[in-house]
Amino acid sequence: MTQQTNETVQALIWTGTSLKVLDQRKLPDTIIYDEYQDAAGVTEAIVSMRVRGAPAIGIAAAYGVALSVSRHLAHDAADWQQKVAEDIALLAQSRPTAVNLFWALAQMQTLLAQTLEDPKAAFINTAEQIHANDIAANIKMGEMGADLLAGAKGLMTHCNTGTLATGGYGTALGVIRSAIKRQAVNVYAGETRPWLQGARLTVWELAQDGIPVTLVADSAAAWLMKSGAIDWIIVGADRIAANGDTANKIGTYSLAVLAKQHGVKLMVVAPTTTIDWGIDNGAEIEIEQRDPKELLPACYDHEGSLVSAWNPVFDVTPAELIAAIVTEQGVVLNPSIETMRGIHVI
Ligand code: MRU
Repeated sequence: MTQQTNETVQALIWTGTSLKVLDQRKLPDTIIYDEYQDAAGVTEAIVSMRVRGAPAIGIAAAYGVALSVSRHLAHDAADWQQKVAEDIALLAQSRPTAVNLFWALAQMQTLLAQTLEDPKAAFINTAEQIHANDIAANIKMGEMGADLLAGAKGLMTHCNTGTLATGGYGTALGVIRSAIKRQAVNVYAGETRPWLQGARLTVWELAQDGIPVTLVADSAAAWLMKSGAIDWIIVGADRIAANGDTANKIGTYSLAVLAKQHGVKLMVVAPTTTIDWGIDNGAEIEIEQRDPKELLPACYDHEGSLVSAWNPVFDVTPAELIAAIVTEQGVVLNPSIETMRGIHVI
């Protein structure tokens, strides 16, 4: 294992002229950053899942556009806006489900339509602001989510929703961080097959911060809940519909159904940049399908094999199974199209 420090490693580091992206595919064995100077590189970093997690994808894309502006202003002064628009379209193709990506690109597109005195500085400032706002939102959500956990003894989380998946601190993991500061609580993390965000990233990230955590196989969740060890399941989100239906890492829906059976509550923690007010319900959310190779043993990974794999990497949990959605604008209890309106800021 690489030498570890006490500080949580950042997923994204903006140097002023480039974006350093922690290669999360190599964690926890190796801490290595790849450095990008253009939007095509950042797109590849998102596609390949060097950077992942809805808020972190949005922030990376914003920096990708800032890099695009710097590059095209320098090399294609006559039609730089057109080239940047093409890069925005490229970044938008990287992953389909996390709406933070499209939200961040829309912010940049709006800026592109304006007459700016210093475009390079304006785009860099906006990307840095998106990054800083995400951290501030996470810290706020951490406190609001922890308010709901008084008396809880056991928390379970899924996927990785921490510093690695966001600008910093985390969404669901931010709530767990804040709760740990207030009370003694047992934290359980599901391994999150097939990409193992829980086993490779969440338990590592918590260990970095000195927070004890117990890893469980995804298939142990029902039995764990049956034992009475869990009071709350706390997860992040990739896209929340206007009625509170929530797309998140595959397996979240299973946990929600199990939680109902066992009297466990489900909390979704996400900044308002994860809410897609343009869709009424979760049926409209595009679910990313990834390469079957992520699931298949290598021996079946060849043309003509009779064995295939179905690999949706998100699912949608209906709002009726969610006890609370925590955002930086407030907490929605028992989410529905009506209760969600309380946090709708235009
Ligand atoms: O495929 P991933 O690793 O990008 O999926 C990440 C998740 O599903 C997270 O739970 C979600 O993005 C919230 S992260 C704060």
